Amino acid sequence: MNDLSFNLSTYLKENKVLIETCLVKILSRFDQNRELIQAMAHSLMAGGKRLRPVLGLAAAKACGGNPLIALPACCAIEMIHTYSLIHDDLPALDDDDMRRGVATCHKKFSEATAILAGDGLLTHAFQVLTQPASLFEFYPDKKILFELVVRICDAAGINGMVEGQMIDMQSQSSMQKDTKKNIGNKKILLEHLKKIHGLKTGRMIYVSVEAGALSVGADSQMLTCLGEYADNIGLAFQVMDDILNVEGDPQIMGKAIGSDVLHDKMTFPAILGLGESKAYARQLVETALSSIEGFDKKADPLRAIAHYIVDRDC
Ligand code: IPE
Ligand code: IPE
Ligand code: MG
Ligand code: MG
Repeated sequence: MNDLSFNLSTYLKENKVLIETCLVKILSRFDQNRELIQAMAHSLMAGGKRLRPVLGLAAAKACGGNPLIALPACCAIEMIHTYSLIHDDLPALDDDDMRRGVATCHKKFSEATAILAGDGLLTHAFQVLTQPASLFEFYPDKKILFELVVRICDAAGINGMVEGQMIDMQSQSSMQKDTKKNIGNKKILLEHLKKIHGLKTGRMIYVSVEAGALSVGADSQMLTCLGEYADNIGLAFQVMDDILNVEGDPQIMGKAIGSDVLHDKMTFPAILGLGESKAYARQLVETALSSIEGFDKKADPLRAIAHYIVDRDC
């Protein structure tokens, strides 16, 4: 099945509007004069691709459900993702000044406010997910909501994204040393890097797809195929992020490039070079596509998103 008949650009635009309308509604419940809310809104509403929530909606559709039921989980995931960006950009971590085309939260406000804005987004994400009735027309039943909380906590937390950020940070200082020591042993470095990327980025992408499917009551066979799809696009996504940090256009991306080399980050281009990294990302996308071969046309958005992940320029 090819994606030519499917207009991804329209699909992405329409769903971005849908998600952003919900995110605005979520924050509108608070006094807009509070600095905490302003700092949260600064990062949450600055834009971004909204890839994770769009993946959730696309997975729900692929499983034959009403994508709108997946909105509470999709919004919660985007809020958690945004918190992770705010903290990732702090001077103690990646020390970045630009994000989503605007000043990073700590540059616009203060480091302390940025830490608290991240905390606010993370905790409020779970309030949105567990109390969806006042915000959403459709939402899953309590049993499914509980399952979503369990899976999202696991993906975002100490066995998932947070641990990935931790190993990423620890690998930074040892990048040069290890590269020298392991010259000729690319395999060990690659395995380590796949672990970092799988945790810091892959787990949240995986749970986006999983949450979309679970929200509409997908069966275990669907979940297995979608899980394989998500694992592969999740890794491909971070490989491309590494590539764009080398050769992307900061104006288009809304964030700096060259910072990974500057900080001695362990990345795919650093280990494989740009050409091999691109080939690897494409191979991952092919594997992702074959995992969902058994799905019908309703999975076309997922197919098109897989291509987009390696074709994107931001
Ligand atoms: C950036 O994620 C952080 C990574 C995990 C690579 P995105 O590239 O999805 O950032 P936004 O949400 O579009 O700003
Ligand atoms: C960060 O990865 C992943 C997160 C969990 C936030 P990167 O450090 O590569 O993301 P960018 O390049 O800053 O967006
Ligand atoms: Mg970063
Ligand atoms: Mg990066």
